[in-house]
Amino acid sequence: MKNAIALRLFVGIAHQTALLFICSILLTGCSQSGSTGANSANNRTAKSAVNAIPIGIAFAQTSNVALLGQEGTDGVKIAEKYFNDQGGINGRPIKLVYQDTGGDEVGAINAFQTLINKDKVVAIVGPTLSQQAFSADPIAEHNQVPVIAASNTAKGIPEIGDYVARVSSSVAIVAPYSVKAALKQNSQIKRVAVFYAQNDAFNKSETEIFQKTVKDLGLNLVTVQKFQTTDTDFQAQASGAINLKPDLVIISGLAVDGGNLVKQLRELGYKGIIIGGNGFNTSHIFSVCRAFCDGVIIAQAYSPVYPSKINTAFRKAYVEQYRREPPQVSAQAFTALQVYIEALRSLDKKSKINKLLLPQLRTQLNQELLKGKYQTPLGEIAFTPVGDVIQKEFYVAQLKMEANGVNGKFSFLSVK
Ligand code: ALA
Repeated sequence: MKNAIALRLFVGIAHQTALLFICSILLTGCSQSGSTGANSANNRTAKSAVNAIPIGIAFAQTSNVALLGQEGTDGVKIAEKYFNDQGGINGRPIKLVYQDTGGDEVGAINAFQTLINKDKVVAIVGPTLSQQAFSADPIAEHNQVPVIAASNTAKGIPEIGDYVARVSSSVAIVAPYSVKAALKQNSQIKRVAVFYAQNDAFNKSETEIFQKTVKDLGLNLVTVQKFQTTDTDFQAQASGAINLKPDLVIISGLAVDGGNLVKQLRELGYKGIIIGGNGFNTSHIFSVCRAFCDGVIIAQAYSPVYPSKINTAFRKAYVEQYRREPPQVSAQAFTALQVYIEALRSLDKKSKINKLLLPQLRTQLNQELLKGKYQTPLGEIAFTPVGDVIQKEFYVAQLKMEANGVNGKFSFLSVK
């Protein structure tokens, strides 16, 4: 089924397969250090760096999506050091290769093609947006390169193909928690206004879940307002909604547009609770809505205080490096890399990975990763046969801004 979808998407670009196989080299074939017999520390370092297993990182480093992409990069950097310090893949380090996806589909496609065909990575973490994944993941599928999404939460991501999995729990599972948390804070809520970015796959998917949750809970959906992730002026939609006197507003947008919409709703006098979707799940939103961010409720697939050995180590390393608590996307990005590393270690014990051709390694890694159970900063996770994450713990946070309107934090609520 997954294959059928990918094949439909890729009729006409079969020539890429040929390219891949021309590029098929033994990974060990790259490990000529040029210093045979030398055993100085320098030579050992040089040799292990050349011998390192390349994993592609395709996150947004530019565009307004970079606010979210940066958090992914922050997370994989912590993971690279953490696991290489432990000896990498049974003594062989991993090396991250970054390609900027920008904020759109073309950028993500280019990043994937470069990682696969030029950088010859074993596997990819990314892209940042589901909207990008629906265009770029089929390229990895076609070339039989594993992809783990660290922040794609739209419906249908793992179904893109056999080589596509994710550690970012679907909107269908996460979003309803925030609505229940809002009702716990104000049981009088009846009238709900929903806003969503209509040009973005994840936000379209998320709003469906929010709208269904509102109806399932017996609330009155008074209006559904649409905008674009590139919009900056929301006066018309905000005024239209406020005139209908909602006591709850739910927004599915990304950090910049969503933050500006929060700001304009407050400036126009809306006083009720605001829920933000997963696109709000970044402390970078503080600089967009500043003091107006205060009180926004956002469901979470990660808690920095989750009590486990690996989360304690991840959180400590993150706080030392970046001087703030790790956000969800950083924890998910760390987890995506952890899955590859643990699956590579496990595969290496069964069939020495330095004896495998790159296409074999990619395929066997893809099969191996779906079989495992992983103790991660997100808690214990595993995968469904189609590659969707199975995760147990979810949370809800509320933004608390300091009076200066500059600093803020995600304050976790009790949802039990
Ligand atoms: N969760 C957002 C998406 O899937 C970033 O696009």
